[in-house]
Amino acid sequence: MKGKNFFVAGLIVVAMFMAGTTVGYASDKDICEKQIDYYIKIKMNDGLLPGDEFNPYDFKGVGEAATIMLENEGKRTHNDKNHAAITRLVSGHLADIKAAAGKAAEGSVESVGHSLRFLYLSCKACHKVYSTEMRLRP
Ligand code: HEC
Repeated sequence: MKGKNFFVAGLIVVAMFMAGTTVGYASDKDICEKQIDYYIKIKMNDGLLPGDEFNPYDFKGVGEAATIMLENEGKRTHNDKNHAAITRLVSGHLADIKAAAGKAAEGSVESVGHSLRFLYLSCKACHKVYSTEMRLRP
């Protein structure tokens, strides 16, 4: 009888473990692999020539990229307070980029660039804390 109970308990533990690893769990690696493409997309719009009629600044594209990145940041799971706090910083800068690009007004290009610099530093902050040896960029 005892042996059977152990077997059942073991099955439950294995089932919980499988559920934990497959259902709705996104690792930093999974999320970051997506984030980098959008990050580069925003960065490519460097705004060197904001008024260039042949190569206009892509406010729409930048706004969309920031919106998707914000959603992705919301999917991170946190095991400690620092991880959550740095994610909040990243999300704050992304919200600023989204708002600035949404306005598409004079000065918006500079505002996006300003927030992008902070975004770079905040992405980097997490990498410095959690994966120093990987020398990630950002
Ligand atoms: C809350 C922590 C955290 C934040 C915020 C964060 N990252 Fe990461 N990132 C990680 C960790 C941890 C890894 C290492 C994952 C691994 O390989 O185990 C990583 C890995 C990466 C990688 C390498 C992925 C690969 O191919 O293996 C890239 C690129 C990356 N991050 C980009 C970004 C960008 C861009 C941002 C900001 C928008 C960002 N990350 C924000 C924690 C974070």
